[in-house]
Amino acid sequence: MPAEAAELLTDALRDLPDPTLLDLGTGTGQVPKALLKALPSLAHIEGVDWSRQMLDQARVALTPLLGSCALSLVQTSADVYTRPAPLPGEEWWTPDLITCCRAFHWMSGPDVLAMAHRVAAPQASLAITGDGSLWTYEADWTRAPRHLIQQYVGPGRRADTMGDYTQPIRPFQEELTDSAWSDVAEHRFPITRTWTLESVLGYLRSTSFAGADLFADRHAAFEEEVRALLDDLTDSGSLPEETEFTVLLARRPAGGR
Ligand SMILES: C[S@@+](CC[C@H](N)C(=O)[O-])C[C@H]1O[C@@H](n2cnc3c(N)ncnc32)[C@H](O)[C@@H]1O
Repeated sequence: MPAEAAELLTDALRDLPDPTLLDLGTGTGQVPKALLKALPSLAHIEGVDWSRQMLDQARVALTPLLGSCALSLVQTSADVYTRPAPLPGEEWWTPDLITCCRAFHWMSGPDVLAMAHRVAAPQASLAITGDGSLWTYEADWTRAPRHLIQQYVGPGRRADTMGDYTQPIRPFQEELTDSAWSDVAEHRFPITRTWTLESVLGYLRSTSFAGADLFADRHAAFEEEVRALLDDLTDSGSLPEETEFTVLLARRPAGGR
């Protein structure tokens, strides 16, 4: 997440005494990481993901950065998430900011937005954010591996071993407008990243469209071919990506809370 986007998301939290964050589809904790940097006074972060492996990685990434911020990680589907009741002696808190980065397309939009409406603090904001993927980014160095993936696992974009990925039918903005979170503003931040051969391979392993499980015993052969393709396409070893990070920042109109 670009620093400017993290600043935008934390702006509304700055004057709160103990600001709290609920991050849906937290993955390896990239959003809490960026927000902790932008707002070190964050008091509580709850990360939700249905993957235990992702949550384990999020804990490793976030623990050194927490300071006095409390972290809870909940393994469940965001669609059915409920706020856990506090343990005796614990304070009850409600999220001031709810984020969902590069993950909303995997979820049932109406269910997640209704859940967010139930659990959020009265003045809370909700942000759906993302920046596409190397599957959607158009460049020679993304097209060549994409064609290779298709040769190995079939022409459609795979969604792990569950079959092909289906595009969301409705734009996220429309889903928001039809929900309690109907006061929506869109913000775009240009970003430039520089990939290396190894970071592309690591990224591909972590995706639903090119994870190792899809290739079974041909994964090593696939990675060798990606290496050869990308080697041919870069002299310097660096592979540039210029893209945009989009933030849909939503609030509930007064009276809808
Ligand atoms: C592409 S990753 C994005 C991770 C992180 N938000 C980021 O931007 O780096 C998507 C994450 O959403 C999780 N996920 C997908 N559908 C989910 C659902 N219905 N409930 C909870 N987590 C979900 C996946 O396990 C994965 O960790």
